[in-house]
Amino acid sequence: MGLELTKDDRDMLDGKYGKSAKKAMEIITALGEIYGAKRLISVSSVQIAGVSYHNLGEAGLEYLSDMAEDGQTRVLTTLNPAGMDLTEWKKHGISERFAKNQGRVVEAFLKMGVIATCTCTPYLIGNLPHYGEHIAWAESSAVCFANSVIGAMTNREGGPSALASALTGRTAEYGFHLQENRVAQVRYDVEARMENTDDFGLLGQVIGTRTKKAIPYITGVANATTEQLKSFCASVATYGGVALFHMEGLTPNRTLVPDKTEVITQDELDAARSELDDTDAEIDFISVGCPHASIKEIGEIAKMLEGKKVAKEKTVWITTAKPTKDLAVKMGYYDTIEKAGAFLVSDACCAVAPLKGRFKGLLTDSAKACFYARGKNSFKTKIRTIEECIKEAIA
Ligand code: F3S
Repeated sequence: MGLELTKDDRDMLDGKYGKSAKKAMEIITALGEIYGAKRLISVSSVQIAGVSYHNLGEAGLEYLSDMAEDGQTRVLTTLNPAGMDLTEWKKHGISERFAKNQGRVVEAFLKMGVIATCTCTPYLIGNLPHYGEHIAWAESSAVCFANSVIGAMTNREGGPSALASALTGRTAEYGFHLQENRVAQVRYDVEARMENTDDFGLLGQVIGTRTKKAIPYITGVANATTEQLKSFCASVATYGGVALFHMEGLTPNRTLVPDKTEVITQDELDAARSELDDTDAEIDFISVGCPHASIKEIGEIAKMLEGKKVAKEKTVWITTAKPTKDLAVKMGYYDTIEKAGAFLVSDACCAVAPLKGRFKGLLTDSAKACFYARGKNSFKTKIRTIEECIKEAIA
C-alpha cells in the first residue's frame, strides 16, 4: 500500500478503537488510495452533510445508527441543515412522522458527540477554521466559502467521508489539501453591477456554468460583504461544482494570475436572471436564507417587517442556524418577524425540507435555492433582492 499511516491510523484500522473508527479509517484510506494520496493528515473541524431524513431515508439512518454504536467524534463537528426546525417544526406544517424520523437522525449524531446544530454556514456560529487550517467539510457552499473566503483547506466531502473524518480526526492528503492544486486557472473580469446578494448569486451562476470546476480568478468586484460572498459561494458551487475561487482584493489565498481572461457583462447577469425567472410563476412561497441568514440579514428583515403583515396566501421562511435564531429572539427580531406572519426557521432550509407539493412558486434572493426549488420540488421560481422579496410578501 502506497499510503503512509501513523501508528494511531493503523490502530484504528486494526479495530483497536472500535468498529466504527475501523470502518471510518477504511473509508479514508480507500479514498486516499483512489486519489493517490501519500499520507493522511489531521483535520481540526468537520461539517457533515446528508442530515435531512428526506434525503437519508431508512437506509441512511441505519448506517448512522450503526456508526453511533461505538463511534465518537475526535474533532469539532457540526451538521448541515435538517429537514425541519428541530423545535418549532409543527407550526411549519411538518408531519409527526417526519419529525419523529428526523429526530432519530439527530439522536444518532448526538450520540457520536456531533454538535447537533444544523447549518450550512457553520463559520457564522463557531465552527470557524483559520487560514491554512486543514478541515473536512461537506456542504458545497460552505466548502467553497472555507477554501476561498477563509483560506482553510478542504475537499468537498461526501456524507460518509465527512463522518469518517469526524470519527478519526483524519483525512487523506489530496486535492485542495495540497497547495499545487489551488492555483487559479481562468480569469474572469466582472463588468456587471454587483450590489445585492441576488447579483452575487447570479454571478456565481454565470461563472459556475462557464468554468465547470476550473478554479476562477475574479477581478472587477470592488467590495463584497460576507453575506454576498456566501451567496456567490452557494451559486458557483451549485452551477459549476466550484470549490475554490480567488477574488482579487477580497480573498486571502495567493495564486498565479491566469493569462486567459474572459469578461462577464451586465447582459449576461440579466440573462441569468431571466433564466431563473419563470414568467408564469405564481408566488406563494418566499424564502430568504440560502445559505443560512446571518444575524445582520435577520435584523434588516425584521426592520422591513416591523408593523407589517404577510399576505394570507403567502408563506415566508427566513432560514438560519439555531444559535443565530436564539440571538434573534434576544434582539426582538424573532417576535417582529413572527408577528408579521413570517417564520424564522432554524436548522432547516427550503431545499432539504419536505416541501414538494405544498407550493407553486418560490421567490428568493438565492440562485442556489432556485436551482433546488425547480429540480427537487418542481416549483416555479423568481429571483430578486431580499428587500423585493419582503415587499412581495407583504404586498
Ligand atoms: Fe444551505 Fe439549504 Fe441553501 S443547505 S446553501 S440553505 S440549499
